[in-house]
Parts: sequence; structure tokens; C-alpha cells
Amino acid sequence: MKNYKEIIAENLAWAKEIFAKIDSKMSSVTIRSRNKVADGVDENGFHVEKERTWWCNGFWGGLNLLLYNYTKNENYLLTAESNEKLMDEGLVQIDTIHHDVGFMWYLLSGAHYALTGDKASRTRALFAATTLSSRYVIPDNHDLGFIKAWNGRGAYNWSIVDCLMNLPLLYWASEELDDDRFKRIAMSHADMSIRDHLRDDGSIAHIVEHSRETGELVKTYGGQGYAEGTSWSRGQAWGLYGFTISYIHTGEERYLNAAKKVANYFIANCCDDWLPRVDFRAPSEPVLYDATAGACAACGLIELAKRLPENEGGMYIHAAVNILKAMTEKFTDFDPANDHMLGYGTVRYPAESVLTGDPGVHISIIYGDYFYTEAILKLLGSEFFTW
Ligand code: GLY
Repeated sequence: MKNYKEIIAENLAWAKEIFAKIDSKMSSVTIRSRNKVADGVDENGFHVEKERTWWCNGFWGGLNLLLYNYTKNENYLLTAESNEKLMDEGLVQIDTIHHDVGFMWYLLSGAHYALTGDKASRTRALFAATTLSSRYVIPDNHDLGFIKAWNGRGAYNWSIVDCLMNLPLLYWASEELDDDRFKRIAMSHADMSIRDHLRDDGSIAHIVEHSRETGELVKTYGGQGYAEGTSWSRGQAWGLYGFTISYIHTGEERYLNAAKKVANYFIANCCDDWLPRVDFRAPSEPVLYDATAGACAACGLIELAKRLPENEGGMYIHAAVNILKAMTEKFTDFDPANDHMLGYGTVRYPAESVLTGDPGVHISIIYGDYFYTEAILKLLGSEFFTW
């Protein structure tokens, strides 16, 4: 196996060529979608929005900040700033805001503050960190707690693996305020995820119901995967990148080991054609992909590879490049005349509706574009780390 540096060097020209296509497309899209908090696209291929508390609302502004940082094209910054202001309406909806405020305001306001030092952005991100930490549930016996997923009594004692990706907001808030209370919550939640979401074989349970008394696992649910006990690929990717991120912020080996376990499992499950199916344990037919899982996993694999001894990292960067190349070939659209770039995202395994067609299958999803661009920039050596 070639080592990390050799694989990066071999693929540099390819990554440059792809980034030129991304920039050429996005420099048109950013102007067209400046005043939209973009999510997916309509039937004509143009961005649409959802409600201001929608969990994906940080990705479009965040993508523009990734592009601004690398290109210094002011148009990207203007779009991100416009999105950040529009999103203030969501930040104060205290009854409906939820655990995904890290995805929303760390990628948007946290990244904007990191790039420009804007004080209002810092306040937004700290406000979001405060609401996220208020969702931490401490069991009666004070063992590992968890950050409560979603709202309402139906999800009263639930955590979901996705939430690992919200923890960077808490790690950042602790650094920013020189106050470790946010970080302690993040680490407790990450430790709970190793105990309760990560299975022995490296696969991951999407939803865990906990005991209020001990905090321990009572039951798991299939969530957005095919069924209970299966393996929703985006959930695997959240775990892969999420544990890597907790390692980056804490230096604790247990998170690195968890990330490697999930990464090994992910690679083993998509190395036939490097196009991730939506659930690794779904029936072989119909073939349903989820490109967002591949893009997020590629980012995690690259960060993991960077932090391992050179010869060990080779396997992970090799897998990341293979996933990105296979998805570029089959799933991308770089035409500047429409707003969708990475296609074949799937919101969830559609269960009964699969034969009749489901509006959430094989579509463009904004975080697919975000992670795809992030991964290509990582191959180009960008060190702007937004997590
Ligand atoms: N966090 C929800 C999802 O991954 O679809």
C-alpha cells in the first residue's frame, strides 16, 4: 500500500481539476442563491429553502465560507453573510430549535468568526453552544449522560449518532471561553456513543433509547436505516468523522480507535465499487445510494489518515480518493446553469415507498455538496478546519 504522502501527490492534479469545476459552477450559484438558505433543489434544478430551524441550514453559508477561504472571491463571503443574517430568525425559536445547532451555527457563524473575527458571529455561535449544552441529560446515578435528540416526549430519552457532528461547537465554546464545562458535556456524549451507538463489529446504531436512571442503552431503533440492527451508511459516516473530530479536539486515543473501527467497517462495505449504498445491510435490490454518506466519510477518512503513522494512513486516504473518484464519475453535475452538484443523496431508506418512488431518494442535498467540496479542498492541502 502506498503511503499517505504518495497518494496525495498522485492525486493532486485530479483534485485541482475537480476544484476548478466546483469553483466555476459555484461562482454562478452563489449569486443566484445569495438570498436563499439553500437546502435541496426544485424540479428545474434551482435551490429551495425550508423553515429557518431546519437542521441543514448552516451548510449553504458554510460551503460559501469554505470557498471564500480558498479562493478569496468576495461573492462567496457576501452569500455566507446574507445567510447568517437570515438565520437569526431560527436561532431564537427556543421551543423548536434542537440538537443540530452545531451543524447550523458552527459551520456558519463559527467559521465566519474564525475567518473575519466578526463579534456578532461569535455571539451567535456561543448562544447556539449554550442551547446545545442545555439539552444534556444527566442520569440519576450521574453516569454517562447524553445530549437529547429532537424535541417532544416521543424522543424523551433518545440520542442519535448524528449528534457527534454537533460536538465541535461545544469543544470550540470551551476553548473560546476558557471554560471546560462545554467540553465535558461533549466528551461525556462521545463516550456514551462509544458505549451505546458503536457495535462490536464497527457498525453503528442510529437511535438509542436510554434509561433515565442509569443512562444505559435500553433499546435501539433503525431510524433512517432499513431496519433495526442494520447499518444506515450516513450514520456510519457521522460516526467515522464524528469520533475523528472528538480525537482531534481532545487527543484521547479511545476516540481515534473508535474512528478506526468505524472506518474499517465502512471501507469493507463499499470497496466493491466505492459507491456507498444507503444502508450496508439492506437487501441487494433495489440499489439505493447515498452520496452524502460517501462525501462525509471521505472527509473523515482524510482527517484520520493525516493523524496516523504515514504507512498506516495510506489505507484510509486510498479509500477516500476511491470514493471521491467513483462519486465524481457517477454522481456530479458541474453545469453552472443549475444549482445541484453532487446528486444521489438519499434522506433515509424509504421502506414501503421504495417501489412507488420516494421524494427523498437519489436527490441533491446541500450537505452532500458541502462535504464533497470539503474533501476535495482537503486533498488540495487546505487546513481550514470547520469542525
Ligand atoms: N441528521 C439527519 C440526517 O442525517 O439525515
